[in-house]
Amino acid sequence: MDLFDKFSKDAGPLGQYQKMAEGYFIFPKLEGELGPRMMFNGKERLIWSINNYLGLANHPEVRKADADACAKYGMAYPMGARAMSGQTKYHVQLENELAEFEQKEAAYLLNFGYQGMTSIIDCLCDKRGRDVIVYDAEAHACILDGMRMTNCKRFSYAHNDMESLEKRLINATRLANEQGGGVLVITEGVFGMSGAVGNLKGIAELKKKYEFRLLVDDAHGLGTMGKTGAGTGEHYGVQDQIDVYFGTFAKSFAGIGAFVASDKYIIDYLKYNMRSQIYAKSLPMPMTIGALKRLEMIRTMPELKENLWNIVNALQSGLRERGFNLGRTQSCVTPVFLNGSVSEATNLALELREHYNIFCSIVVYPVIPKGEIIFRLIPTASHTLEDVEYTLNAFGEVKAKLDAGLYETGSIPKFPDLV
Ligand SMILES: Cc1ncc(COP(=O)(O)O)c(C=O)c1O
Repeated sequence: MDLFDKFSKDAGPLGQYQKMAEGYFIFPKLEGELGPRMMFNGKERLIWSINNYLGLANHPEVRKADADACAKYGMAYPMGARAMSGQTKYHVQLENELAEFEQKEAAYLLNFGYQGMTSIIDCLCDKRGRDVIVYDAEAHACILDGMRMTNCKRFSYAHNDMESLEKRLINATRLANEQGGGVLVITEGVFGMSGAVGNLKGIAELKKKYEFRLLVDDAHGLGTMGKTGAGTGEHYGVQDQIDVYFGTFAKSFAGIGAFVASDKYIIDYLKYNMRSQIYAKSLPMPMTIGALKRLEMIRTMPELKENLWNIVNALQSGLRERGFNLGRTQSCVTPVFLNGSVSEATNLALELREHYNIFCSIVVYPVIPKGEIIFRLIPTASHTLEDVEYTLNAFGEVKAKLDAGLYETGSIPKFPDLV
């Protein structure tokens, strides 16, 4: 049999939708300046689907810093891995400033969040499999894939459930003791799909009873949570209980790349052992200098986060007042849970896009259980209260039609030709 034969039989959970949805629901092209209004399929739309939380993606100061660094250094500089020929004073400066921002001794830059996180887990865990990992059941793919790289035994605990975590910790501790290893607990700070906030306070409390190290993926908490935007640990006042803090530049920082922050001896170990960085080229200079600019703005412009939360609060309270179920969100991530079939969800999304020009992400079976639909909205500091009002009215109207069964039987916008 040819190795590739299987692909024509099973395109995978997302690939199965390629024919009907590519270019519209999957791989849509958002064009124009990054922000709340972008062009999609030839028309301007109100965008609620980019993680540009603080509105920095298109901020003139950010654009200038990126452009100046690019003009001076190009995209190639520095060439080579950090350890070989890719070190610069700006990389070191950014790490020092990120460490200070996160109230940690040291930090280390990563080229990508996903890849970096997998490599951190691989690197922290014993090569002979003696350590034990305990992780939240709703952990991001990068956490799951990082664990797959290790030989260590792992236990999942029910999402954010401290009783379940404690039970797992008892088993994990016993096993780790038998094997002569330690225990690593992994959670997200803010869960990117549901918007739930990781129970870091509860986990920190358990540290008094059990010996373990805590790794937090705060991709969505960095910049959005805590007094200074340092993230979910700061929000709960337990930053010092996070042993290894991970943040990405792909969301609030509106860039690409990521970092890990911890005690100096841990960062030193990661620097010399983390395969994703040792065997890969250094973060390009424009992103490094650009990230310094973004960090300075996050530190000195609290209004960015205030604007964000004004929009989040108006959107979430407006949706709740109109009877929408937003699940467990306590963060900026705003999932709207509806009941309906995949075809109803598609028709509703089509109407939101074509009639109301509202663009948001839609999640259906098999990513979530059959009969459920999630419309995931990402508010940003650059949205306005008028955008919120318009969206609330649109959602009110489409919900009434959904409840009346009209997306199954009624007249719905025609699937547009793709331009
Ligand atoms: C929780 C979480 N961790 C890690 C990542 C990966 O980050 P990056 O996009 O920087 O690779 C993401 C982004 O989707 C995320 O949501």
